[in-house]
Amino acid sequence: MEQVTYEGLTFQPYISKKEIAARVDELGKEIVRDCAGKMPLFVCVLNGAFPFASDLFRAVESIDAEITFIRLQSYQGTESTGAVKEVLGLHENIEGRTVIVVEDIVDTGNTIFRLVNDLKKHKPADVKVATLLFKPDALVRPVQPDYVGFSIPTKFIIGYGLDLNGKARNLNDIYILKEE
Ligand code: HPA
Ligand code: MG
Repeated sequence: MEQVTYEGLTFQPYISKKEIAARVDELGKEIVRDCAGKMPLFVCVLNGAFPFASDLFRAVESIDAEITFIRLQSYQGTESTGAVKEVLGLHENIEGRTVIVVEDIVDTGNTIFRLVNDLKKHKPADVKVATLLFKPDALVRPVQPDYVGFSIPTKFIIGYGLDLNGKARNLNDIYILKEE
């Protein structure tokens, strides 16, 4: 893996495709163990979570599960704006269901906090959060994701769905901003 450059910023390899795949398989097994017989509804938060949701959903093939997609946005450039907007809503009836929100990253926790509260208004049986990446030191909300791929330091990362202004989502590996 080589370093990559976007918008004049250099990023170095951080988590390989192989490590991601192995960890996603483990998370899948945890979900299978916890959610067998509950027909969980995966709610993939677009755009960033789509590669993770695709891999995680197929890692639970031994149980019945469903998936749907919503879209929110809270980030511009490499700084959190704090503002969370719902762009594309949820159309499924989630009353009584086990919902698994699938996120690429929990950073400040603002997005997931707001989303989980919104979902709870629709009376689901349970709302769980699965996130590939978690920056515990960046949290400004009381959020504890149920399934965490990797806990990472408060640094900007890209790849495997995570973007810099829309770019770099198609990188197979995850990269971290290089401090000069
Ligand atoms: N990278 C890309 N998008 C993000 C990040 C990050 O580190 N944190 C929150 N959104
Ligand atoms: Mg983003």
